[in-house]
Amino acid sequence: MRLLKLLRTTAFRLALVYVLVFAVSAGLLIGFIYLSTSSFMAAQTDETLNAEITGLEEQYRQRGLPGLRQIIIERSSRSESSLYLLANADLSRIAGNLSIWPADAEREPNGYMNFTYDRQVADGIEKRLARARQFRLPGNFYLLVGRDVVDRRGVEDLITDALLWAGALTLALGLLGGFVISRNMMSRIEAINRTSRDIMEGDLSRRVELTGIGDEFDELASNLNDMLDQISRLMAGMREVSDNIAHDLRTPLNRLRSRLEVTLMKPQGDQEYREALEQAISDADGLISTFNSLLLITRAESGVLRENFAPTDLSAIVRDMSELYEPVAEAKNIAFRAISGPPVTCRGDRSLISQALGNMIDNAIKYTPSGGAVSVWVQREAGTATLKVRDNGPGIPEADRARVLQRFVRLEASRHTPGSGLGLSLVAAVAQLHEGELQLDDAGPGLIASLRLPLDA
Ligand SMILES: Nc1ncnc2c1ncn2[C@@H]1O[C@H](COP(=O)(O)OP(=O)(O)OP(=O)(O)O)[C@@H](O)[C@H]1O
Ligand SMILES: [Mg+2]
Repeated sequence: MRLLKLLRTTAFRLALVYVLVFAVSAGLLIGFIYLSTSSFMAAQTDETLNAEITGLEEQYRQRGLPGLRQIIIERSSRSESSLYLLANADLSRIAGNLSIWPADAEREPNGYMNFTYDRQVADGIEKRLARARQFRLPGNFYLLVGRDVVDRRGVEDLITDALLWAGALTLALGLLGGFVISRNMMSRIEAINRTSRDIMEGDLSRRVELTGIGDEFDELASNLNDMLDQISRLMAGMREVSDNIAHDLRTPLNRLRSRLEVTLMKPQGDQEYREALEQAISDADGLISTFNSLLLITRAESGVLRENFAPTDLSAIVRDMSELYEPVAEAKNIAFRAISGPPVTCRGDRSLISQALGNMIDNAIKYTPSGGAVSVWVQREAGTATLKVRDNGPGIPEADRARVLQRFVRLEASRHTPGSGLGLSLVAAVAQLHEGELQLDDAGPGLIASLRLPLDA
């Protein structure tokens, strides 16, 4: 079963393809060497035969039959692998180390022939292969000059054997390599699979073990682990947010409910009922607006709103929002000053940025006591534009500046001013959506809230 699984792995199949490609190319290479060597050796044999015949013919012309006979006798005794036969017109032997003219020769059209002959060896007679060329001499004599080719065949056989062995060895080594590689890979992948199964079964704390080699499997494992960490963090965050939401919405809902309950406890006049209902509607409006703020924050955080980004003039936003809040400041006897100069364009969502600036101005007016001052302006800095709102109220202690950005967080000092603690959360989400930044600083006295946004390129 394990073997079957191993054979099915990608690594093994890849190894197999490599083995095949390698075996085919090795085979082609050795085959080429074989063919060229054997044809070279054959050509060499034919060439020496030819040269020898030319020489012998020359001798015959100069020294006649006795001379040629003499030479043939000499040469026949000198070499074992050279074959000679000088014969009469009826092919009967005159001289040479071949006893009879080969009868069963396989003849080629160019005068060459391949045949077997009998050679005297220690324990009898051996049939051996030879290649020869025959030649007719003037005067009707026949001359045959040949070579024993058993040795040449031997070399050829050696090469054939080498070819087969090389092929078999390549295959065997390749298969073995394939097995080893796939086993190794399988065990690494199995480790990842095991961990993911554990996680799927509910053990979210499990992480893939790293081998420390630093290869692509380690990289995959560490990416998976980082992803799991990120998911855990997000899940923890989600849990906290939903806990907070549930907790913070329960209070106004309870208030609404008990108000209605108290109203029903004893009979009342039309006027009282009407007032209670109006109160209930206003409570419900507050809840709806809290829900809307929450939804808006979630949408800004999710990043989907980036699709609506367009060039947005921040100076215009400063003008619009100031117009909206000036009467509010005036009503509270706060000196309100808005400085808006030439257009400062950034890429973003106009309504979200307006909402964020509105929240910042709203805070400044809300938390600054009567008689204070609030100013709003936009300021360019290298590559960025910053919306600034400054007041001279109580400010936010440094220790609380990160905390107030969280949903529903309101400082103790603001307990008696209305609000849901979502205003700065939205500003922070808008900053994050635009890849900008929200910064709270001490204005000594008061607070400077800065919303930094990237300028439109
Ligand atoms: N300009 C400011 N001066 C002093 N304290 C501030 C200022 N702005 C914000 N805060 C403090 O930070 C808290 C969070 O502000 P945030 O705007 O998020 O909520 P909120 O104003 O209480 O309610 P909401 O804005 O949702 O109506 C406030 O409750 C307040 O305690
Ligand atoms: Mg606020």
